[in-house]
Amino acid sequence: MGLLDGKKALITGARKGIGRGIALTLANEGADVGINDIVDDEVSRRAAELVTNRGVKGTFHAGDVSTVAGVNAVIDSFLAEHGRIDILVNNAIFPDQSRPLFDTDEAYWDRMMNLSLKGYFFGAQRAAKEMIAQGNGGSIVCLSSVHAYVAIEEWTAYGTAKAGLRRMVKGLAIDLKGHNINANCIAPGAISNVLPDGDDDVIDGAPHDPSRFTKHLPAAKGGLPSDIANAVLYLTSELGQYVNGETILVDGGMIATKTMQD
Ligand SMILES: NC(=O)c1ccc[n+]([C@@H]2O[C@H](COP(=O)([O-])OP(=O)(O)OC[C@H]3O[C@@H](n4cnc5c(N)ncnc54)[C@H](O)[C@@H]3O)[C@@H](O)[C@H]2O)c1
Repeated sequence: MGLLDGKKALITGARKGIGRGIALTLANEGADVGINDIVDDEVSRRAAELVTNRGVKGTFHAGDVSTVAGVNAVIDSFLAEHGRIDILVNNAIFPDQSRPLFDTDEAYWDRMMNLSLKGYFFGAQRAAKEMIAQGNGGSIVCLSSVHAYVAIEEWTAYGTAKAGLRRMVKGLAIDLKGHNINANCIAPGAISNVLPDGDDDVIDGAPHDPSRFTKHLPAAKGGLPSDIANAVLYLTSELGQYVNGETILVDGGMIATKTMQD
């Protein structure tokens, strides 16, 4: 018996890193999982295969979730394979997340907001519409960040988007009242997102060098995809159904120190 037996979950940006960890963790608990990513390669397909190896259905849905058309195409593809959607995890991000203030041009700003706010919002809207039609409730989780709480140099566009998500899930919770759908964020701290080296049938890759975190971080080490995935499991299973419109920091105490510097 798993915590998510029979559930159907779609995770965006899940080829690697935290999304991949979420996909494998939800699969371990009995969910059928669709992996989305903009990168369509053997690593993406292997992630779906690793889901299937856990005795559930794993599928890959290539696509760009920074446009409304892209989001709908990915969800259509997921529904064609799985028939319904119970869980959406908005997780995708592109690599160059920081940018000096005066190098932040309109194109970069739009790219950040299109993926991290527009794509996440319209994904949640579409998933909620499907969940309401299905009549069995559901869960929406968005990946926010410690950057939604504390400003550090050169992370303003990213932090603004991630702070917007904290407000977005509150609005979703209220607008979806009575439908048994909870909408929440997880705000990770510093999480290693590298693929596992060698045996790839595991959730986590190599951790960050802990010496980076010994000065201020209460945990004295960086986090792993499994740390975030376990929080997603809580929010998407019966365990966390009374949590709604909330953002849960999973940061090893980073924000408790009121600094993101080490
Ligand atoms: N890793 C951390 O320390 C950390 C800290 C705070 C918040 N987060 C958040 O957690 C989430 C996952 O982060 P990660 O470090 O695991 O990322 P990652 O870079 O390891 O993986 C992100 C994935 O998203 C995919 N992607 C990029 N653009 C896309 C698009 N338009 N459509 C579909 N897929 C797309 C990428 O190809 C990649 O596979 C992000 O939302 C990130 O902001 C991460």
